[in-house]
Amino acid sequence: MQKSMGVSNQNYHYILTSLFVICVCMVIYASYITGQYGEYFSINPVHKHMHWTTPTDSNETSIKRVTSQNETAENTQILPYKYILLWNKVSWFSRKSAGAADICGNCPIIRDRNQINGQHTGAVLVEWESNPQNPPNSKQRRFDQLYVWWGMEGPSITKKGNPERFKLYTDNFFNATLTFRRDSTFYNPVWTWSGNISIANLVRNGFGGLEKDLGKLLQRKTKVAAWMVSNCALGSNAKRRIAFSQDLIDNGLKLDRFGKCFPKSGSTPRRYEPEFFRFIEQYKFYMSFENAIHCTDYITEKFQINALAAGVVPVVMGARKADYQAIAPPHSFIHVDDFASAKDLVEYLEYLDSNHTAYAEYLAWRTMDPYDLYPYGRHIGFCDLCRTMFGVSPDDHRPFSEIYRLRNSSYPANRPIRQYHVKSIYDWWFVSQTTECLG
Ligand SMILES: *[C@@H]1O[C@H](CO)[C@@H](O)[C@H](O)[C@H]1NC(C)=O
Ligand SMILES: *[C@@H]1O[C@H](CO)[C@@H](O)[C@H](O)[C@H]1NC(C)=O
Ligand SMILES: *[C@@H]1O[C@H](CO)[C@@H](O)[C@H](O)[C@H]1NC(C)=O
Ligand SMILES: *[C@@H]1O[C@H](CO)[C@@H](O)[C@H](O)[C@H]1NC(C)=O
Ligand SMILES: *[C@@H]1O[C@H](CO)[C@@H](O)[C@H](O)[C@H]1NC(C)=O
Ligand SMILES: *[C@@H]1O[C@H](CO)[C@@H](O)[C@H](O)[C@H]1NC(C)=O
Repeated sequence: MQKSMGVSNQNYHYILTSLFVICVCMVIYASYITGQYGEYFSINPVHKHMHWTTPTDSNETSIKRVTSQNETAENTQILPYKYILLWNKVSWFSRKSAGAADICGNCPIIRDRNQINGQHTGAVLVEWESNPQNPPNSKQRRFDQLYVWWGMEGPSITKKGNPERFKLYTDNFFNATLTFRRDSTFYNPVWTWSGNISIANLVRNGFGGLEKDLGKLLQRKTKVAAWMVSNCALGSNAKRRIAFSQDLIDNGLKLDRFGKCFPKSGSTPRRYEPEFFRFIEQYKFYMSFENAIHCTDYITEKFQINALAAGVVPVVMGARKADYQAIAPPHSFIHVDDFASAKDLVEYLEYLDSNHTAYAEYLAWRTMDPYDLYPYGRHIGFCDLCRTMFGVSPDDHRPFSEIYRLRNSSYPANRPIRQYHVKSIYDWWFVSQTTECLG
């Protein structure tokens, strides 16, 4: 990595630390998805006995799909394919972590830059956190391809690392965005890595040994509130959230804080091991505090996995309440913006701690039909990109439930197939954001 981004030493240090933290998290995340819990993340039972032969020869025009372990001609289908060319090296990348676009729609992800204008290359993907210093040469560009900007971090962090990098990518360079923002061309929430992962599936499958029975889950709760945090400084809200947690404690909340920012609290089970969920589920509340506030849709696994999936009620600080409401199960979280002060929030949490019925209402969504929980069965992220490369409307064949439709019939369905353009990625990413978000 070159130090050519025009940032101070201190910022540079933050960037390295953050990249390290991000990479470690991604590796852990990717390994838990591909490893131990792989079965909970399988796209569809049909794919259990299916493996793919990724074409390496640019003359091939099809991809072989073997539909059973008995690899005979009868069991082999020949299907058309398109490549997603990942332009830059992403250390934590794995096929499954990218949403298995080859499985959901015949789009193998490749890194061979020689394929840039190959007839099968349908999209060129630039991952922003991995320092993409050299844009693809625009002379080689095929205009039926989608050049896609892939962002995983919030704008408050992106800004620190690479304001100069945005200048390397001219206006109209990108056709599409792939991020956690719902107004991305391809919506790719941070906690959802595969076509069919949803909080509903995690809960229904007892992800990570989680308790499925609501009554039993409630009985296990012997402690009040927990928070684990390892990033103590990076991001516009990183320091403020620590001060706020102290405010909650000063106002009487029984809040246990863990992680690198609180080294004296001792160690906790490794993230997403079964012991981790056993540990978390003893608590009634989890502080899902993001490192930036009021950034559009910036909601991470701190909410979806650490709290919702784990059976703990999240107390959220981060995106606006409406952003959470759009994706969260009904009556599933408490937003700090609803309270005038830390004292008021503590009073409400203490009330819920004392009123079993009122507390249990926050977990009632766990008994809902998974089909009624967002984003059940939707093709999102890489799967959405893949389908679009084949000219399929991203919204075809989506088993939206009726309840979901009623919640919002206009978003994000019925997006027309069209030419895709992102006039200025810099403007889209930053200009609409408040100073609170950017810090
Ligand atoms: C593609 O096919 C042509 C003609 O059969 C052959 O000359 C060429 O070597 C092939 N390319 C590759 C990469 O195998
Ligand atoms: C594999 O499938 C073929 C054709 O369906 C069949 O003839 C053959 O016996 C099968 N082999 C095994 C090991 O099941
Ligand atoms: C406890 O919560 C339930 C459900 O919200 C409510 O109906 C009841 O009045 C509450 N009890 C007290 C003592 O506040
Ligand atoms: C998602 O998974 C469920 C259950 O495993 C399955 O019924 C459904 O067809 C899957 N949807 C997609 C789009 O793969
Ligand atoms: C539904 O989505 C549309 C389109 O983005 C948005 O303008 C509207 O506010 C959403 N409505 C609700 C209730 O979330
Ligand atoms: C992608 O963007 C380029 C440059 O703006 C444009 O010429 C091309 O038509 C776009 N392609 C698609 C498929 O939208």
